[in-house]
Amino acid sequence: KKYLLHKIVGKPLLYFDSLESTNITAAQMAQKGTGEGTIIQADFQLAGRGRLGRKWDSPPGKGLWFSLILRPRIEPQFGAQLTLLTAVSLVETIDIFANLRCCIKWPNDLLFGEKKIGGILSEMTLDEMGNIDYVIVGIGLNVNFTKIDFDKSVADTATSIYLQTGNLFDRSEVLLAFREIFEKHYELWLARGFEFVRERWLAYNCTLGKNVTVKDDGKVIFEGIAESIKSDGSLIVKATDGTRKEFDFGEISIRF
Ligand code: ATP
Ligand code: BTN
Repeated sequence: KKYLLHKIVGKPLLYFDSLESTNITAAQMAQKGTGEGTIIQADFQLAGRGRLGRKWDSPPGKGLWFSLILRPRIEPQFGAQLTLLTAVSLVETIDIFANLRCCIKWPNDLLFGEKKIGGILSEMTLDEMGNIDYVIVGIGLNVNFTKIDFDKSVADTATSIYLQTGNLFDRSEVLLAFREIFEKHYELWLARGFEFVRERWLAYNCTLGKNVTVKDDGKVIFEGIAESIKSDGSLIVKATDGTRKEFDFGEISIRF
């Protein structure tokens, strides 16, 4: 096996045939003290979730649906960097494994062309001192979906590694590669900080330079060009009149 160098990520790896949502199970386990690096994976999610309460289509056999428990000793304000670090790791995994170069749509979407191939849902919980207790990083990657496998509601906007390459992939091999790549980046990030994540994120992103509309609860609240990201992961958008506004991960969505 090529990928056996990771020490913590996926140790242990708990696999379930079906769960409501791996993020929910991971959070319950983390609350009970389950250690850093544990992965909860499900073949099928009955109620897979995206951001802002949206539904994540997660049928059996078609994708990688898993959540990682992390306990980084960092300031909570930097927790959002983990979503960017995970996106970078996913882009590299898909590139190495399937020879497919995806791009990152801020903050949490993985696209191939205009279509969504994966997504990340990170949820951070603080302890009573205000320090990070744990972060659940939930990852959904569409590996072997064919056109007819997708829920009707996403058939036009979603794609998969199979649809883009014509090859079916062994999901556990993809996960093994991800574990190693993620762990390397995670350790470097803890030791050296955000700068290299940011550089790679910039290289892989397909958000900056684009005209975007910013929506809050479906309502357009700002329009302009996505200009840069800050070290807390927030996005700066510049309007045509030159005013700039900063948006964090919270409640907003962007549309090209
Ligand atoms: P944002 O830019 O705010 O992240 P989004 O529309 O991508 O907006 P998310 O909450 O990130 O919203 O992701 C959930 C959305 O992704 C769902 O509303 C649905 O449209 C789409 N979706 C659900 N399941 C899948 C899937 N397996 N593959 C691709 N897209 C999916
Ligand atoms: C998004 O694009 O909004 C993020 C989607 C994240 C989906 C993954 S699948 C595994 C984990 N469990 C969930 O319920 N959601 C995440």
